[in-house]
Amino acid sequence: MPYVYEEYRDLVVIERVEEADGVVTIRLGAPTGERLPAWDPGAHIDVQLENGVERQYSLCSHYQADTWRIAVLKEPHSRGGSSWIHDHIKVGDAVKTRGPRNHFPLVDAPSYVFIAGGIGVTPMVPMLGEVIFDKGAPWTFWYGGRTRSSMAFRDKLEALGVHIWPDDEKGLLPLEQILREAPAEAAVYCCGPEPLISAVEATCAELGRPAPHVERFSAKAVDTEGDPGDHEFTVVVNSTGEEFTVPRDKSIVEVLLASGVRIMTSCAEGVCGTCETKVIEGEIVHRDSLLTDEDKEEGIYMMPCVSRCRGDRLVLDL
Ligand code: FES
Repeated sequence: MPYVYEEYRDLVVIERVEEADGVVTIRLGAPTGERLPAWDPGAHIDVQLENGVERQYSLCSHYQADTWRIAVLKEPHSRGGSSWIHDHIKVGDAVKTRGPRNHFPLVDAPSYVFIAGGIGVTPMVPMLGEVIFDKGAPWTFWYGGRTRSSMAFRDKLEALGVHIWPDDEKGLLPLEQILREAPAEAAVYCCGPEPLISAVEATCAELGRPAPHVERFSAKAVDTEGDPGDHEFTVVVNSTGEEFTVPRDKSIVEVLLASGVRIMTSCAEGVCGTCETKVIEGEIVHRDSLLTDEDKEEGIYMMPCVSRCRGDRLVLDL
């Protein structure tokens, strides 16, 4: 598919709900009231705020609803995204969005195990809806959080049979037991803080299970010093033939934007997938926290906000 530069969509806040301690849900709709595009469970949108900050939020409405809903946790060290939403956003405000985009899709599987930590529950709410009401597949769902009152959507999920697991009452989620008892062919999904995701990945590996499907909110620690991408190289924009030099200390996205090339970007950390670009020629050094090992092995797509080139030249499908 040719690269398509996506413009922002103007939406309006139509509902704000204090969902749990430190969590608000924001419902967004078209200013004209028309139905917003459909999406699949696991999808997220880029939200650009009036203060210029842009963040990604998973959609957590019913995936066939006319409007979109996001849930926002007020982060203690917020850099202007979550705290701005908590402190300023109100019904009637205008918001710019891009997407939906889905790098965390629900695969077909005989059964499912969902493991959520805190606000990581958001992409799994519509996933559970699809598994229960459309697929009719067996599932278990384990939802950990600091305290009961901090856990968004807790009552509705508990009524469906989700295991609610507040740290202050029950301690950490019993991952080894959960994964040992899960059917071998179950697809395992995990989203939440990095220690939870790393622990689920490690436990799956120890038990000989396939790698879980995970979505990270922040970048994995990657030691890039001296890796095969740690050098200057040339990047070629295939549609125009223009060539640009990417120095060691700049990303491909930074070089292209500074040269006036239209490339989409958002997180600049290799987490959100907004900059995903097809590579026509050249070998990629992947540094993102998003693509699976199989994706990386295929070497077709890269996240040029962080990933680089093994050799001298990379031709991008831009
Ligand atoms: Fe988010 Fe590149 S801009 S992955």
